[in-house]
Amino acid sequence: MKEKMFILATTLVMAGTLSLAYAADADKGKALFESPTFAGGTTGKSCVTCHPGGKGLGSDLFDRKKLTIMGMEKDSVEEVVNVCIENPLGGTAIDPQGEEMQDLIAYLKTLVAK
Ligand code: HEC
Repeated sequence: MKEKMFILATTLVMAGTLSLAYAADADKGKALFESPTFAGGTTGKSCVTCHPGGKGLGSDLFDRKKLTIMGMEKDSVEEVVNVCIENPLGGTAIDPQGEEMQDLIAYLKTLVAK
């Protein structure tokens, strides 16, 4: 029992450290949002082409459990972003936990908060 508590405590500490490891930067996210070459985009479009000022992004985007995009069900906003990267941008999906995604998500939060 004690051992289990120790493992649990250690896991929590490690999880805390990991989540603090990178501070997402909404300004960097904005730059990605406006870049047609983000994620290797090939169509000349950027996120802002279709979502200026957050257009098309539901105000409940970060509250929904299930997201649907282009007829596909997705579990997270990160996966939805990757659908928009691969299709309208003609790019390559990025790491859902990576720094670029964290920056982009931080910026999306400022857009839907309006
Ligand atoms: C060519 C236009 C276009 C571009 C470029 C585009 N999107 Fe989208 N995006 C859409 C459309 C259309 C939908 C809605 C699709 C649907 O409902 O099936 C959507 C949906 C979304 C959603 C889900 C919104 C919601 O409330 O469910 C997010 C998040 C999103 N896009 C982010 C992005 C990001 C980030 C980029 C840049 C990497 C991007 N989009 C580029 C057209 C675009």
